[in-house]
Amino acid sequence: MTRAPKKRVVVLISGRGSNLGALIAAASDPNYPAVIAGVISNRADAQGLEIAARHGIPARVIPRADFAAHEAHSDAIDAAIKESRADIVCLAGYMRLISPALVEAWEGRMINIHPALLPSFKGLDTHARALAAGVRIHGCSVHFVTHDIDGGPIIAQAAVPVSSGDTEETVAARVLAAEHKLYPHALALVAAGKARIEGGRAALQGADENGSALLLSPPLDRETDAASDLEALARFTP
Ligand code: GRF
Repeated sequence: MTRAPKKRVVVLISGRGSNLGALIAAASDPNYPAVIAGVISNRADAQGLEIAARHGIPARVIPRADFAAHEAHSDAIDAAIKESRADIVCLAGYMRLISPALVEAWEGRMINIHPALLPSFKGLDTHARALAAGVRIHGCSVHFVTHDIDGGPIIAQAAVPVSSGDTEETVAARVLAAEHKLYPHALALVAAGKARIEGGRAALQGADENGSALLLSPPLDRETDAASDLEALARFTP
């Protein structure tokens, strides 16, 4: 049986790049349906650039300051994505707004990871706001990027528990560990043609619908758990 050609993916970053690292690790599996073909950062000091370099993945820095208008910056990013012959774009901690033209050009082929269970807690500071709201379950979502910021069709979500002993740091570490499982899973669905936009929602075709959400339930021994989440984060080096 001939295998479908792997989809080429460009990852847009602005910082640490731990999700980029998770995508690269997943794509190293010969059976994964995508390859990470390039990385674009709007910041020259993004730690994720070191991850790209270590894996020999071509990376470009395209600073916003090099362009008078926000649209021209997005156009330059679009041109760089096309130069990489990308099929899919992953936003992974990319902290700049992208122009409507760029969103339209890649609609259905551009995805983002957000550190909350959408549609709750769109925007920034999601962990602080989730704690302030007293939620018992928090998590992360991967969605198609549309004009509606953090509001595009949801492809997959992962949930983690929150307890009263949690801090922003422990919650952030727990969610991040879930992100590193969720993003490769969601990208695989898109790359394999199993997730696409239909009627304003993500339709999962031929995919195991239950498998599209990852319910992660660490034991409720909060002290041990929070400590191990923080340890895991401390061990992370770009
Ligand atoms: C992640 O929490 C992601 O959900 C959000 O930005 C953060 C990026 O982290 N969009 P990293 O750069 O992938 O480590």
